[in-house]
Amino acid sequence: MNKGELLYEGKAKRLYTSDKKEELIAEFKDDLTAFNAQKKSQEVGKGGLNCLISTHLFGLLEKAGIKTHLIEKIDETHQRVKRVEIIPIEVIVRNIATGSLSRRLGIQDGLVLPFTLVEFCYKSDELDDPIICDQHGLIMKLATQNEMDTLKALAREINEVLRPFFAQRRLNLVDFKVEFGRGENGEILLADEISPDSCRFWDMDSGEKLDKDRFRQDLGGVKVAYEEVLKRIEGAIL
Ligand code: CDP
Repeated sequence: MNKGELLYEGKAKRLYTSDKKEELIAEFKDDLTAFNAQKKSQEVGKGGLNCLISTHLFGLLEKAGIKTHLIEKIDETHQRVKRVEIIPIEVIVRNIATGSLSRRLGIQDGLVLPFTLVEFCYKSDELDDPIICDQHGLIMKLATQNEMDTLKALAREINEVLRPFFAQRRLNLVDFKVEFGRGENGEILLADEISPDSCRFWDMDSGEKLDKDRFRQDLGGVKVAYEEVLKRIEGAIL
């Protein structure tokens, strides 16, 4: 696959140059982190599961007309992706209240929101990814108003594809985080990953959590839960 120089190492992935200037190679790691990396662990096979899950979901979104950075899955833990300039805004989409939304505002955990909520957070480990509004984004020159409007519209479109897809598999897509980048000519592409590391999935029948909350909350069975999400994505409803 001609993995070149290590360009960037994040909490869950490494990015390498490739033999083409406009393409990079992403490697999914087995590392698990939570609470801005204050809690760390490893789960052998997690990187491979997330690589498969994210490849599948990006493919689904591409089919629905959403442009992504993904070119192809290379092997168990690697993807070939388009080089993009990441917009330092984490876009959080919520269908059901939980996590920081419930903690910050006292909204009841598990409340089905009357409409899908889209929030922006500034991607900054030093500042702990604080929530921001459009005006902060403009003042800090993170993105233009046009771009922020596009991010919100794309985040809603992604939810419109993924929420029914998971509902058919008896999983509630509670919330998720997506990141976008600027590709050639400033075109906005979905980047990063969509996996149980960045989404919350609750089983519709048992309420069981099948995502990184199993690690955050020391519930155990992290890998089994991720495997279950993959099985459901591949169509096997247990
Ligand atoms: O409760 P917590 O602070 O972990 O996060 P949240 O704001 O409730 O997260 C909403 C959704 O975005 C969850 O599915 C998280 O897994 C995801 N998220 C993420 O993937 N990365 C972040 N830095 C923050 C949130």
